[in-house]
Amino acid sequence: MNINNRVAFITGASSGIGKAIAKKLSETGCKVILASRDLKKLNALKNELVGESIVVEVDVSQTESVAKAFKKARVAFGKIDILINSAGVMPLTYLKNRHLDEWLQTIEVNVKGCLRCIHAALPSMISNKQGHIINISSVDGKEFYKGGAIYGASKSAIIALSKAMRMELSPDYNIRVTCIEPGTVDTNLRDSITDEELLNDKDYDNEDEPKLNANNIADAVLYALNQPENVNVNELLIKPTNKQ
Ligand SMILES: NC(=O)c1ccc[n+]([C@@H]2O[C@H](COP(=O)([O-])OP(=O)(O)OC[C@H]3O[C@@H](n4cnc5c(N)ncnc54)[C@H](OP(=O)(O)O)[C@@H]3O)[C@@H](O)[C@H]2O)c1
Repeated sequence: MNINNRVAFITGASSGIGKAIAKKLSETGCKVILASRDLKKLNALKNELVGESIVVEVDVSQTESVAKAFKKARVAFGKIDILINSAGVMPLTYLKNRHLDEWLQTIEVNVKGCLRCIHAALPSMISNKQGHIINISSVDGKEFYKGGAIYGASKSAIIALSKAMRMELSPDYNIRVTCIEPGTVDTNLRDSITDEELLNDKDYDNEDEPKLNANNIADAVLYALNQPENVNVNELLIKPTNKQ
């Protein structure tokens, strides 16, 4: 698909990976819908972009909020060609410390948030028999570690979901589905960790860990989107070169 003039709805556009994707898609001529809870950050980003864009407030953990945001996007642009599910949280915790609220929030945002956006984007894609849904999962959905049980489960769910989505949506409706699985990326994602024991654990000392940057992931998204229409990039697992 030629992505020039396509309409892309990007969740998590206020920060990190989603923001880098929004910039890159806008540079390539996409009309972008910048979505997250933080209107101030989204408006600042909108001011940086030269192409057409709108800002929509969305809390992906709320069904009504997602429905309202997509309605606003449809009114502005009439359709959604591309959905980028980048909104996510990562409040890692050890299970024994029982941070139930954070566990549930992880599933609410990373899994159910993704489902809410897919639900809202599908009508336009199905009726146009064209679309591309890109789910930002994680290498943590394949490689597990202590403290990452719930986050890993949420990202595994997205990998499984993406596979099944392709079976139902790609052949019949020409909707491509790509699952991106980044290793550690230099963003603010880990700032929400509250489990003191985990933060003070030597095993969780990630200061010197090799990291990707958000643009590396945006380039991967662009690669998947820019393939000819008969090419469905299923999965991209991306790690820093200096990491096993
Ligand atoms: N950084 C990494 O190492 C890494 C590695 C693999 C995968 N990932 C995945 O990449 C995605 C983006 O993460 P990032 O690294 O870019 O982190 P980030 O900089 O912290 O960005 C997270 C984004 O998610 C949005 N968000 C969080 N809760 C939300 C909610 N309830 N409703 C709407 N938006 C919400 C935030 O926007 P607001 O706060 O403005 O709402 C923000 O834009 C996540 O799915 C993450 O799991 C990240």
